[in-house]
Amino acid sequence: MRIHSTIAAITVAAACAVGLPASQAASLDAGKASYNGNCASCHGPLIAPYSAAQIRDAIRRNKGGMIILSSLSDAELQNIAAYLATPNGNDSDRLFNWAEAAAPSLLSPRATSQNVSGYYLRHYSNTNVYLATQNGRVYYYDASKPVGNSNPADLGTITDWLAQAGL
Ligand code: HEC
Repeated sequence: MRIHSTIAAITVAAACAVGLPASQAASLDAGKASYNGNCASCHGPLIAPYSAAQIRDAIRRNKGGMIILSSLSDAELQNIAAYLATPNGNDSDRLFNWAEAAAPSLLSPRATSQNVSGYYLRHYSNTNVYLATQNGRVYYYDASKPVGNSNPADLGTITDWLAQAGL
């Protein structure tokens, strides 16, 4: 119980640090878990944003056999919808999404995140550059240039970037 409340306090502190209301962060986490448990087996990692009502409707119409999910509550569907609308409560993904929108010529085509050698990263095949995070810091690597001379470059902390980006 004590461990549980400590973890809850840390989660709240972390959510505040990145400027996300704690309740929103909690429902995103719940939505992500619920999506992965109930939907990902058919839909893969992420589908496009849908509202809770649209998901309920798809279940009611038994799209693709989704009638088996009839017992999901409205609250659960709302959490899932919140998660789908914010493709990733995950700080790194929010930052990557923002960077892709801010620098489309450099960071294209839009990429999905992967875990490679201890980094959480996205690779942009048009320019052969990488955006990565590790231990709370953001890195940029231009694979078309030799390693060394600030390549990869340490761009500072994720927290600073999220604050700067207003995320
Ligand atoms: C048993 C496999 C399966 C599961 C589990 C499942 N889906 Fe589906 N879902 C489908 C299929 C197949 C379609 C139909 C796709 C189509 O018609 O183009 C669909 C359609 C949808 C649609 C409607 C898309 C539209 O155009 O109307 C939504 C929204 C949706 N799913 C969300 C979810 C969510 C959220 C979950 C988890 C709560 C989920 N699905 C779980 C298979 C599944």
